[in-house]
Amino acid sequence: MRVLGIETSCDETAAAVVEDGHRLRADVVASQIAIHGPYGGVVPEIASRHHVTNLIPVLDQALRDAGVSLDDVDALAVTRGPGLVGALLCGLQLGKALAFARGLPLVGVNHLEAHLTAVFLDEGEARPGPDFPHLALLVSGGHTALIRAEDFGRYRLLGATRDDAAGECFDKVAKMLGLGYPGGIVIDRLAREGNPQAVRFPRALPRRADLDFSFSGLKTAVLNHLQRHGQPQGQGVADLCASVQQAVVDVLVRKTRVALRQTGLRHLVLAGGVAANSRLRADLQAAATDEGVTLHVPPPRRCTDNAAMVAAAGYHHLQRGERAGLDLNAVANLPLPT
Ligand code: KG4
Ligand code: ZN
Repeated sequence: MRVLGIETSCDETAAAVVEDGHRLRADVVASQIAIHGPYGGVVPEIASRHHVTNLIPVLDQALRDAGVSLDDVDALAVTRGPGLVGALLCGLQLGKALAFARGLPLVGVNHLEAHLTAVFLDEGEARPGPDFPHLALLVSGGHTALIRAEDFGRYRLLGATRDDAAGECFDKVAKMLGLGYPGGIVIDRLAREGNPQAVRFPRALPRRADLDFSFSGLKTAVLNHLQRHGQPQGQGVADLCASVQQAVVDVLVRKTRVALRQTGLRHLVLAGGVAANSRLRADLQAAATDEGVTLHVPPPRRCTDNAAMVAAAGYHHLQRGERAGLDLNAVANLPLPT
């Protein structure tokens, strides 16, 4: 089954063609980073307007890359939430228009489930995905959660952030340091030249045994540090980035280890935009080896928002016979399916 995926939940306009939920034929992403950069964050109305102009060219490119036409597409999978409602509606409307015009089956996809499914895509060669049930650490700009994945389409939330998401923390710290938006990737790059022990930031571990996170204290600690010591320069910037990054990564890794021990699960998935972080990938791999579990992580470009993961997740819902009507709507706070 050849599925055309469409993703517009935030500031990436994306279309992809995926066969049988894992064979990647095309994956096109038009980023709006340069457009939102000057505002220090995503401006929802501007994001929607750019989705409208980018969607058709991105769709055309995906079909060209896959070497297929719309006649060769079997079904459509479109992100319906969580995300910015105005942005989501752009992709949804295209999906519904194509489904109506072509008489194609359509499913609405949960963006978080899509992130969790990215790991099942073949990257160059077919490779075994994680076994079910498995533990997933989902870290993005809007979410930080530990999830027990029972099967495709069936998830149980074990813990989540009580305030900011890990990606949001990176983005806000980068803003304080004048490093631009989005900050995660810049912090990752600068941190490679820095000393992670230069500044000792707090590691918030609300009640050790539970699986919740909190990152707002770290953000405040960085703000206090800057007020006390002023804006760092040169090596100081790299040291601060490395120290903040290590504080975030330490908390994510420690809580994941607690979850692995509590659940006894042997397969671990790392997903979401922050999963592109090189320190997190390295430290979580070390922890997984130490715990004797297998870690599965998509390549960095499939960790951040894309439509290939949407097509892959949609495929499993289509396989179960699910079909959305033309009344399919966007849901800003859509929870993971249970
Ligand atoms: O999954 P995603 O593309 O969009 C959401 O669904 O939120 O995640 C975006 C987040 C942003 O906060 C961005 O700063 C962060 O992922 N991010 C990173 C890296 N690449 C993207 N954070 C740390 N290190 C990176 N290399
Ligand atoms: Zn995302």
